[in-house]
Amino acid sequence: MCGIVGYVGKSNAYDILVKGLHRLEYRGYDSAGVAMVNDSGKLNVYKTLGKVSNLENFCSDKDKSGCTGIAHTRWATHGEPSDCNAHPHFSEDGEIALVHNGTIENYKVLKDALIQNGCTFQSETDTEVLVQLIEYIRTHNDCSLLDAVREALRQVVGAYAIAVIEKNNPDTIIAARKSSPLVIGIGEGEMFLASDATPIVEYTKNVVYVKDNEIAVISRNEPLKLMNLDNEETKIDVKTLEISISQLEKGGYPHFMLKEIFEQPNTLRDCIRGRVVENGNRIIISGVQDSKEKFLNAKRIIIVACGTSWHASLIGKYLIQDMCRIPVEVEYASEFRYSSPVIDDRDVVIAVSQSGETADTLAAIQMAREAGAYVYGISNVVGSSIPRNTDSGTYIHVGPEIGVASTKAFTGQVMVLTLVALAIAELKGTMTAEQIAEIGSTLKKIPDYVAETLKLNDQIERLSLIYTYAHNFLYLGRGYSYPVAMEGALKLKEISYIHAEGYPAAEMKHGPIALIDAEMPTVIIAPNDHLYEKIVNNVQQVKARHGSVIAIVTEGDKEIRNIADHVIEVPAVPECLTPIITSIPLQLLSYYIAINKGKNVDMPRNLAKSVTVE
Ligand code: M6R
Repeated sequence: MCGIVGYVGKSNAYDILVKGLHRLEYRGYDSAGVAMVNDSGKLNVYKTLGKVSNLENFCSDKDKSGCTGIAHTRWATHGEPSDCNAHPHFSEDGEIALVHNGTIENYKVLKDALIQNGCTFQSETDTEVLVQLIEYIRTHNDCSLLDAVREALRQVVGAYAIAVIEKNNPDTIIAARKSSPLVIGIGEGEMFLASDATPIVEYTKNVVYVKDNEIAVISRNEPLKLMNLDNEETKIDVKTLEISISQLEKGGYPHFMLKEIFEQPNTLRDCIRGRVVENGNRIIISGVQDSKEKFLNAKRIIIVACGTSWHASLIGKYLIQDMCRIPVEVEYASEFRYSSPVIDDRDVVIAVSQSGETADTLAAIQMAREAGAYVYGISNVVGSSIPRNTDSGTYIHVGPEIGVASTKAFTGQVMVLTLVALAIAELKGTMTAEQIAEIGSTLKKIPDYVAETLKLNDQIERLSLIYTYAHNFLYLGRGYSYPVAMEGALKLKEISYIHAEGYPAAEMKHGPIALIDAEMPTVIIAPNDHLYEKIVNNVQQVKARHGSVIAIVTEGDKEIRNIADHVIEVPAVPECLTPIITSIPLQLLSYYIAINKGKNVDMPRNLAKSVTVE
């Protein structure tokens, strides 16, 4: 949700800021803007509706001088996407510019008070209130920008990562965070700030993750200073980035999404490296081993997540219940937090999130911790808020995921949940060494099976042409394949804008069967598992109503191939590992349908990669 970038140093800020905005565009892309202050004390603010490339066109003939600047790419919350609502926002006297990611919840009260004091507003945003408030405090108290920012933040309720510059001080950016991510990069005579490390990594590997309620003074000539809202200096903990530039580029693929789909053999290898050892006989998940007592004594596990991560979590439920015999509940984090959940210190809450920054998931874990539960995080982004706010956890290690539609993070999450379940089962003795070894040895081969499945690319591309203009799709699965059906439907919806529903196959007869006709394709996930014969019936039921069926089946399938209109054959794996394999053709199908429709798969309308607001 919105990306912010800042630079102070010796180079031209504009080029660095715009490059940074391109890297952060996955977070929001309805408008973009930059503000630079130059050594003659001129503050130039340029902003425009649309993507970062529009901003570049808009700025082509403008004065872009200045070695200090801030920039923003927006995902609208308050106020429609427009030039005026785009960031940076500036104070009425034109002296201060500010970018913001988050939401100011009490903006209305603050705005009314400022209007009563004679302030006028240009935009409909919550953010403009903050910059006008900072100006008001600075003018009326005759204080520094830093003091005015601190005082303003004391009055604000909500979430923010902000960066502020002023006309008369071209050497400094003031930044702060609460519940929205902010990273500072420390270079030689230059510093950077951004919503995540991707705009920073090509300049420096030394970063500081700003904590909640911290304010940073980022200067060209002075060391970084961090302080809390009481003006007390706080500790600076410099970390080393582990991502590389090549991970942030398309590497010859037309889209990040396709690149990320094809990366999965490697990302899954990275995910299991050092964790599946002794030929698969042992599973080492240090987070689980360190939390041994908690998992051994857990009366229940609650998994909280959103979107695709929620689908991975549902697979986690099947895995943990099957392997560890612990009851598992899976909750949308956004519902969990407002459902008066009954939690106590015998519960273990697992939070699953690619970004590690999803606002609802963060709120859910905060609530669980306050109620005494032990909280375990499964995330991708190293140093993000979820791993920093949980008791223990595991990274999925699939590298930066840029495409808004999650693909490699989903399979990475399912893989880590499998490993976590096996590690708990080993601790609890709910699986024998032989059973663990059987799954463990197949896990090591999963990257190769995924590579094999990706060879279906051409078949799926051809198939996509037949169904590109369908208006509705139904996705059905049972057991482990039910969450896969939901994930397949979500992938199609979010990038092609075709309505799709994922459903447990047996529930079809309780309602959705009414929708079936020759116009509505049904995708059925039907690997050769213990529910296979049941799902054959479901295929028959669709065919009896003249629906067309695309079936994902196991290689060598005999029955469904005779009934379905199209079969996609995937390698045979144990039932609990089928989701990682069967989800691959569904990712490709949604990708090609969206491409055939001319959609922007990496930046689908209305969406943002990281949902850091409620
Ligand atoms: O970063 P998270 O995994 O917490 O994000 C959760 C959802 O916003 C995310 O999975 C979303 O549903 C994706 N766009 C799905 O492709």
